[in-house]
Formats: sequence, structure tokens, C-alpha cells
Amino acid sequence: MNPLVPELIADYVPGMIQLAYLLASALFILGLKKLTSPATARSGNQMASAGMLIGIVVTLFDHNIISFRYIIAGIIIGSVIGVTLARKVKMTAMPELVSMFNGFGGAASALVASGEYFRIAPQQFAGQELAAMIISVLIGTMTFTGSLIAFSKLRGIIGGAPIVYPGHKLVNLLLFILFLVFGVLFFLDAGNPAYYLVIAGLAFLLGILMVLPIGGADMPVVISLLNSLTGLAASATGFVLDNNLLIVSGTLVGAAGMILTLIMCKAMNRPLSHVIFGAFGTADGGVGNVVQENGKTVREVTAHDLAVMTVYAKRVVIVPGYGLAVAQAQHIVREVADFLESKNVDVRYGIHPVAGRMPGHMNVLLAEANVPYPQLYDMDEINKEFARTDVVLVIGANDVVNPDARSDTASPIYGMPILNVDQARSVVIFKRSLNPGYAGIDNQLFYSDNSYLFFGDAKKSLEKLLRALKMV
Ligand code: TAP
Repeated sequence: MNPLVPELIADYVPGMIQLAYLLASALFILGLKKLTSPATARSGNQMASAGMLIGIVVTLFDHNIISFRYIIAGIIIGSVIGVTLARKVKMTAMPELVSMFNGFGGAASALVASGEYFRIAPQQFAGQELAAMIISVLIGTMTFTGSLIAFSKLRGIIGGAPIVYPGHKLVNLLLFILFLVFGVLFFLDAGNPAYYLVIAGLAFLLGILMVLPIGGADMPVVISLLNSLTGLAASATGFVLDNNLLIVSGTLVGAAGMILTLIMCKAMNRPLSHVIFGAFGTADGGVGNVVQENGKTVREVTAHDLAVMTVYAKRVVIVPGYGLAVAQAQHIVREVADFLESKNVDVRYGIHPVAGRMPGHMNVLLAEANVPYPQLYDMDEINKEFARTDVVLVIGANDVVNPDARSDTASPIYGMPILNVDQARSVVIFKRSLNPGYAGIDNQLFYSDNSYLFFGDAKKSLEKLLRALKMV
């Protein structure tokens, strides 16, 4: 009997545990719902955290709890690592951190399922529990090794370019078939741990070999997919442990991650299969060289001219992109916007769903600088406004404003919805050179009659602009 539970209420404990799990699940779902808007995201996060706390505390009252010494040691070590990482991580390194979280989530699911296998006599497992165990080991281990490769690519520990060799897809297929064969053998003879170790080893290899051929720049999509798989692994482990909360929360993570992955693919106009099997992109983005056609010129603007242009404008729209994150220019952009607003200029931000390198990248950056939510407009809303906009400031964005996506059927980004900044009266592009962005292609916007280039690091350029604005 659980020593924490008085004898009197012992009979009611299993029912109370299930009720508490139900409450925790409801809090997860409501929390997720609130995460759909920046205004309610913070309270959504707190709600889901409360659900998690309930889940953890209640699980401690459940049977089969190991010694509290290990639990407390785990909580202390995990908290120290978590708090240190969360405080130290730079916003641009967020995808790497998320990828490590996914990897450890997957490994934890596979290890818990393995723990059950080695703890309990295999004859005691029902068929569906064995099947869940196989799924948990496959997905959890693959997620672990796949995430380590994704992390290494983003960190630059291994090259970000797709690593391919002749027949790599066939090798992966064969390994997967082998996994299925050994999975069936394990199912039929679960008492033989050799089968279990072979399927774990194959899943380990599959994770590495599936992610190596994917370019570093596609890693955010892969990380989102791995995140979804972590959820599914946890859910499968929930079936092994017969734990309803793990099943529900794992399924929520799996579904949310998959929806996010598909949204990212849709916004890039690339099918998921192309991301996984397409070997597209390089370490930093940029699949080719910049091809500048002969005779094309760009017009540069000075800080003073730009200050005059913006301060006398009725409406200015700011379009942030990956370069804003690289330059860490979120605070200074807000200062510029505040200054313009103080001069009665209507300032808005146009946010493309895949601007930057991770979902919600721009929203997170701008929230960090306390940009008011009502000033953020998503793509569909702001696209209606460009024709009535005097000046658009494109800050470190490139692909998401490239008009080729609308008109050039041969372009790799053809069909990707973009921000139609070229419809504004003037467009000013802040970047350091004419180098391409993630997709590695030239941008006709730079050469159009209403465009100006403001060369330099985005943060320094905005500082120059603010100084000039104060002098106009
Ligand atoms: P990009 O097209 O990648 O362009 C970023 C631009 O920022 C570059 O042209 C670069 O030009 C400039 N830049 C870099 N550092 C800068 C700095 N310090 N100061 C000023 N400019 C700087 O970015 P985007 O428009 O945000 O588009 C995102 C791309 O990533 C899309 O193609 C999208 O499909 C892809 N992608 C997005 C995601 C998610 S979830 N967001 C995931 C995977 C892929 P210079 O080098 O000349 O300065």
C-alpha cells in the first residue's frame, strides 16, 4: 500500500487520481486554446503549467512510485539545468534548444517503456501493450537521435548541408523494413530481449539517417515534426503504463506539433515530403549564388532622407524578418516606431507566418521588446493595407517579400504567399548586402522603381535612423 495514503480513503484514491488527470487534461486543452492569441498566451501557459503540476503531484500518489530520493534529485538537477538554459539561451538559438528538449522527451518515453519491459515479466503484457512498446521505442529513439543531428546541424557542429549518398533513401527503407520484421518477432516472442535491443538499435540508426540528408535551413520544420513525434512516443508510453494523462497530453503534443508542421510547410508552399526527402537548403539557407542580371541597379537611401520620408508619412508598415533576429534589433525598432507614433504616424507591423527561422519567431522577438499586440497584423490583414501605405520598412526580411513568389513559375518559392510590400508607395529594405535569404534566390523587389536599399546591420541602421529622426 502507498504509505502516503491513509487507510480510510485508500478505496477512493484510484477514482480521485483519474478525476485529477481529467482536470489536468482539461487545463492542457484550455491552455492550448489560449496560446492561439498573443494576448492570452501567457495565461494559457500558466494554465497548462498548473495542469502539469496537478499531473505530477497526483502521479506521486499513484502506485509504482520509485523512491522519493530519486524524484527529488531529478527535480533539482532538471530545474537547475532548465533555469540556466532558459536564462542564457539567445533568441536565435531557440530552435536548437527546442530540438534538445524534443530529443530528451523522446529518449524519456523510450526509456520509460524499456524500463517497464525489463521490470515486468514480458508474459504479463497484453498484445496492445507490446505494440505500444514497439511504437514508443521506435518513435522515442528516432526522435532522440534525429534531434541530436538537428541540434548539431543548427549549432554548426556538423555541416548544415544535406548529407546524402547514392541510395540513401533505399537504405532507410530497408532499415525500416528490418525494424518491422524484428518488431513482429518481438511481438511473437517478447521474452527474448535480443529482439528488443535490435529494434532499439535500428530506431537509433533510423533517426540519424533520416535527418542527415535534410538541409540545416529546413531544420525548424524538422524540429516541429520531431516535437510532434515526441508527443506520439509519450502517448504510446502512456498505453504501456496504462496512464491516461500521458496518453492525453502526448496526443495533444502530437496533434499540435503536426498542425504546426503542416502550417509551416503550407506557408512555404512546400509539401512535407519535400522537406523530409528533398535535400533542400544549406546550413544558413541559400541554395545558390546570387544571380544579378546585367544592368540592374539598386537605389540607396541615406538615414536623413529616410527620416524625412517616414516622419512625414501617414502610415508606415514595418516588415521584420530573419535579419531582425540576427541583428537583435527588436528594441531599437520599437523605439523608432514609438518616435514615429509620437509624430502621429500610423505604425503597424506586418508579420509573415514563416518570417525568421521558427514558428512565431517575429512575434516572440517583438513581444520581448513589448511591442503592443494590436500593432501586429498577420499577412492576410496587412496585405489589404499596403496599397494605402506610404512607406514600408523591410527589416532583414527577404524571401517573404519576394514578388517572384507571385509571378515566376520557375522560382523555387513560386506559390508561397508573400507580403505584398511592392504595392506601397515606397519600400525601404534594410540589409547588409544583396545576398539572398534562405531560399537562395535573387529578389526583384530590390530593383523596382519604388524600392530603396538601406545597407548595414539592421540594429546599426535603425540607430542611425532614430538619430536622424530626432534631428529632422
Ligand atoms: P530570409 O529570406 O532568410 O532573409 C533574411 C535576410 O536578412 C537576408 O537576406 C540577409 O541579408 C538579412 N540579414 C541577415 N542578417 C542581417 C543583419 N544583421 N542586419 C540586416 N539584415 C540581415 O528571411 P525571411 O524573409 O524572414 O524569410 C524566412 C525564410 O526562412 C523563408 O524562406 C522561409 O520559408 C524560411 N523558413 C522559415 C521557417 C520558419 S518557421 N520561420 C522555417 C524554415 C524555413 P544580408 O545577408 O544581405 O544582410
